[in-house]
Order: sequence, then structure tokens, then C-alpha cells
Amino acid sequence: MNQMIEQEPQRQRYFMEQMKALVAERSREKGRPLTCMINTFGCQMNARDSEKLLGILETIGFVEADSEEADFVLYNTCTVRDNANQKVYGRLGYLQTLKKKNPDMLIALCGCMMQEPSVIEKIKKSYSHVDIIFGTHNIFKLAELIYNRMMGDRMVIDIWDAAKEIVEDLPVERKFPFKSGVNIMFGCNNFCSYCIVPYVRGRERSRKPEDILAEIRRLVADGVVEVMLLGQNVNSYGTNVETPITFAELLRQVNEIEGLERIRFMTSHPKDLSEDLIEAMRDCKKVCNHLHLPLQSGSSRILGLMNRRYTKESYLELVDKIRAAVPDIALTTDIIVGFPGETEADFQETMDVVRRVRYDSAFTFIYSKRTGTPAAAMENQVPEDVVKVRFDELLQEVQKISGEVCGRDINTTQKVLVECLDDHKEGYVTGRLTNNTVVHFPGDASLIGRIVDVYLEEAKGFYYMGRCDR
Ligand code: SAH
Ligand code: SF4
Ligand code: F3S
Repeated sequence: MNQMIEQEPQRQRYFMEQMKALVAERSREKGRPLTCMINTFGCQMNARDSEKLLGILETIGFVEADSEEADFVLYNTCTVRDNANQKVYGRLGYLQTLKKKNPDMLIALCGCMMQEPSVIEKIKKSYSHVDIIFGTHNIFKLAELIYNRMMGDRMVIDIWDAAKEIVEDLPVERKFPFKSGVNIMFGCNNFCSYCIVPYVRGRERSRKPEDILAEIRRLVADGVVEVMLLGQNVNSYGTNVETPITFAELLRQVNEIEGLERIRFMTSHPKDLSEDLIEAMRDCKKVCNHLHLPLQSGSSRILGLMNRRYTKESYLELVDKIRAAVPDIALTTDIIVGFPGETEADFQETMDVVRRVRYDSAFTFIYSKRTGTPAAAMENQVPEDVVKVRFDELLQEVQKISGEVCGRDINTTQKVLVECLDDHKEGYVTGRLTNNTVVHFPGDASLIGRIVDVYLEEAKGFYYMGRCDR
């Protein structure tokens, strides 16, 4: 075995070649192709990572299966809230029964949960049927890790504390032919006091603008019309590259790419959202009419404890500025209920912001204690029953408002990017407006990936029914 190639991605290309031969041999023995399945938990970063992982698996000869009864099953995990972890442990029991039926099956775990030492200990102790464990910093090594597992007879564990380099130019298998996530940065430096992401994803690292632009040009040449620029805080993009560049400038450059139709991005931290970015959003025609602006709490006191570095007032001012520059923009948000020390008065401040901003939609979360974060050590955790009451009150308000504002484009003709066949109604397709609202209208598979004019006939709260206006 050639262990001498140190440089990436050449080293991985070598292991992919080795694996290709191995997979082909096993598949000959079995008289059928080897199958693989990736189950992805968590956010868009994980979804994008899974596309890279699938790219490697398909390159080495695995065929994607649609169930976990496969020869290689990989869970790409999330640990942002405890319920995500519990789901993984629950599923691992089920995988064990599958492995009894197919003893050659390989089970692998990766993603954010694996960056926590306590998780690794638990898996080693209680889930010895797992074959491979790796983390968030070395997903590009998948071929090498499978190779090592197949050549040996023990669990392979490879977790890095920090990223060593950004490895470019490995295969990717996109879920959608017409749209794609594009990482512009990795990691997070913000250390919001409740959040585990900076610990499991490491420090902030931006990709070079030329690599990002080249990737998007390649995607467009391959049929992509919409990109989602991904980072935990895209507004601080570009501070740690050789020639510093702002996110606003990157947006302007992406906007110039011919053939690209829509640009989205996720996530924007309110503390770093500059005037310059607001102008870029206003000027760039391809930037979608939607901004996800996580609030977390409407109480300035709680925001301070959360280490968010903005106040209720500065958040509301920011919303006004954005709406002045981009009228009709759809705003969405994330809110946490039950942060330690949250009083009824604090909670009502959150309700007040929700009523003033009138979000198109809001993801609401019950605070989940994450070991190792500053908030986990705070004493006055809010009792579960109190949190539950507040959560229900918030959810009801959020849904009521969203039902009222989402229909604002009724009786107009809008551009819709068709994403798939409607899974509820035969003869219909489903797509999205630039502001991200879903539209169903009569059509067939030939429309998928195309942007068409649709007349919005009926507002149904969170979505429209329309008809193609051609
Ligand atoms: N980088 C993004 C958020 C990534 S995590 C940002 O700053 O907006 C996605 C969402 O999960 C967060 O916005 C927050 O609302 C929620 N979240 C994070 N940690 C949490 C915790 N410990 N308990 C409950 N919700 C949490
Ligand atoms: Fe977590 Fe805050 Fe970073 Fe978002 S910005 S990932 S909430 S620490
Ligand atoms: Fe979860 Fe990791 Fe994303 S913890 S939310 S998958 S960055």
C-alpha cells in the first residue's frame, strides 16, 4: 500500500482507486452491486457534506439505495439539540438488527456529534457494531477510512480536533440537478453561550473567493440555476483569507456569473449585517427576496447572556433598514424559548418582536442544555412546564402571523423555480418563489429545474395554489 502520498487531494484519489477495485471485487463475489445509504441530520452544512460523502461513495462504486438495508450505511449526525442525538442512538439499535441479516454490512458515523468525546466513549462501549467513526474536519478522507476498515478487523476511529486544511476538488453528488449549496466558510467564532457548533465545527475558515466562484461556474455549466451560499455566519466571510474581502463583495461577484439565476445565503448574524450588504442585496438582481435573520430572543438582557452582541432595539432598527432598502423582503428567523434565567417579562419581549417584525416563518426551539457550553453551567434553568407553555404561545403567534403575511402576493404573476412533482396531488408540481414561499400548480416533470411564470390564485397560509401563466 502506498502510504507515501501525503498531499491532498492526491492521497484520496489514490485511496479511491484502491477502493474502486475492492468494491468491484466484492460486487463480483455477491453477483450484485454494493449499495450505500446516507442518513443526514441537522443543517444545510451537513446536507452539503453528505453530497460530498455520496460523491466519494459513488466514485468508488457504491450504488445509492433508498433504505438502510444497504451494504454501507452512514449517519451524518447533528448535536445542536439533544433530541438530534437521541434519534441517532435510537436508530443504531435498528441498524444492529440489519447487520445480523447482512454481516458484511458496514456502519459508519460522522458529523457534529462525533466531535464530542463523551459520544465516542458511549459508542465504543454500547454500540460495538459500528465500523467507522469520523468527525467534521476529515470527511474528505472517507475512501481511506473505508479502506482501512476493510483491510483490518476493528472499529476505525479518526476524529480531528481542528481542521488542518480545506481540501478542494473532490467528487460531489448533488441531490438536486438544478440547485446546490456552496460552502463559503466553515466553523464559527461567535460562541453564543448556548451553542455547541463552535466546539464541534472549529474556528471560522473562509474559502478563497476564486475557489467559490470557480465552483459556482462549474455548477452552472452543469445545470444549476440556484445556489445557497453556506456558512454559520456568512456576514463575517472573508476576514481570514489572504486578500480580505467582504461578503457583500462576494455577493456582487457571484451575481455577475452568467447563467446563474438565483442566489440565497444562510446564515446571517444580525451583529455583522453591514450597510454594504444591505446595498448589495438591493442591487444584485439574482439575490433572492428573502433573509433569514435569527433573533434567538427579543429580550436585550437575555441576548446579553446569550452573547449575541445586539439588542432588541438594534435588531428592530436593522429590520427597518432592510425593509427600507428591499421592500417586500420575506424575513424568517430562529427563536429559542427557555434560555436559563428567562422570565415571563423576557419572554414577552420576544413576543413583542415577533408581533412587530411579522416574520414569514420562524423556527422555534426549546432551549437544550449542551454540555461544555457556558449556558449549561448557568444556575437558573427554566422549569420544563413553564417552557412548554411559553413555547406553545409563541408557536401559535408565529403561525397566525405567518398565515397572514405569506399570502401577500396573491393574484399576481411570479417567477417560480420548479423543484419536484407535487407529492400530494397528481398532475401538479411544486416550486418556490424568490421569497422562498412554496407554490403548487398544474404541470409535469419536464418543468423541474425551470423558472416559470405562475399566477398565484389561492393563498393557503404557508403556500399558494397557482396556474402556469405562459
Ligand atoms: N449559525 C446560525 C445557527 C446555527 S444553529 C446562527 O447563528 O443563526 C441553528 C439554530 O439552532 C440556532 O439559530 C438556534 O436558534 C438553535 N439552537 C442552537 N443551539 C441551541 C440550543 N442549545 N438549544 C436550542 N436551540 C438551539
Ligand atoms: Fe452557534 Fe452562534 Fe455560531 Fe450560530 S453564530 S453557530 S448560534 S455560536
Ligand atoms: Fe447540527 Fe452541526 Fe449543523 S450541530 S445544526 S449539523 S453544524
